Amino acid sequence: MTRFAEHGVVVTGAAKGLGQAIVQAFLQEGARVAALDLDHEALQQTWHGASLQPTVCLAVDVRQHDALDAALEQAQQALGTLDVMVANAGIGLRVPALDIDAADFERVIDTNLNGLFYCNRLAAKRMPATGGAVVNMASVMGLSGGIFPHAVYQASKGAVVNLTRALALEWGPRNIRVNAVAPTFVRTPLTEGLFADAQRKQAVMATAALGRLPEPADIAHAVLFLASAQARCITGHTLAVDSGYLAR
Ligand SMILES: NC(=O)c1ccc[n+]([C@@H]2O[C@H](COP(=O)([O-])OP(=O)(O)OC[C@H]3O[C@@H](n4cnc5c(N)ncnc54)[C@H](O)[C@@H]3O)[C@@H](O)[C@H]2O)c1
Repeated sequence: MTRFAEHGVVVTGAAKGLGQAIVQAFLQEGARVAALDLDHEALQQTWHGASLQPTVCLAVDVRQHDALDAALEQAQQALGTLDVMVANAGIGLRVPALDIDAADFERVIDTNLNGLFYCNRLAAKRMPATGGAVVNMASVMGLSGGIFPHAVYQASKGAVVNLTRALALEWGPRNIRVNAVAPTFVRTPLTEGLFADAQRKQAVMATAALGRLPEPADIAHAVLFLASAQARCITGHTLAVDSGYLAR
């Protein structure tokens, strides 16, 4: 399939986990991709020598807004056009609310909310006059209180859900669609610790009505759908890929 031939796509958090799967899926569908990540080494390890490669890999921290602006400028030049932004970079911090310190709280908000907002805005400014698409990485944790104490993460992802609605309304007249994907637990470097703990793994599996959890590729399929012309009348929506987590 070449749904994204001639499209320029930026993916943040592209060195590992879901971001890696999303980049791969866009490449398989003919897109030119800029892979952005904080972790320069992991970017190299993942993409150097891969059979399908991003047009450009850029090391940047989404919390550094000037550096992010410069990286997106470089990405646009390399891609020729910036049509799709996948704001995927995010971090978690499973610390109970009574114990979390201010610096850690701010780090999560700064990455998952502020960084994502600037990815959206700086990309939207560079999209063609004909429009474009933004897909934000939310979480079922942004649509529920979660199953483990993780209040700052829940708060940051809830904010992503509502930011997505607000930007969809603001940018609709420019034909920039803004949507989000809300995965349940997926095995990635982010959740390694969780899946290594038998008790917590059991608690996670109990949320999956389907008895299975999504693979990173399942999340990528949803991202590509929302970014594609097939979703041309969908905006402001958060699509859960949750094996039934939210049906409860
Ligand atoms: N894995 C899950 O179960 C799950 C579930 C729901 C939502 N999510 C969300 O999906 C996104 C990706 O998660 P993942 O599981 O692939 O995580 P991951 O930790 O495996 O990968 C995240 C990538 O983002 C990069 N990153 C982190 N902070 C950054 C920053 N400030 N600037 C640039 N890059 C940065 C990391 O270097 C890493 O390569 C996150 O937003 C996460 O909250 C994950």
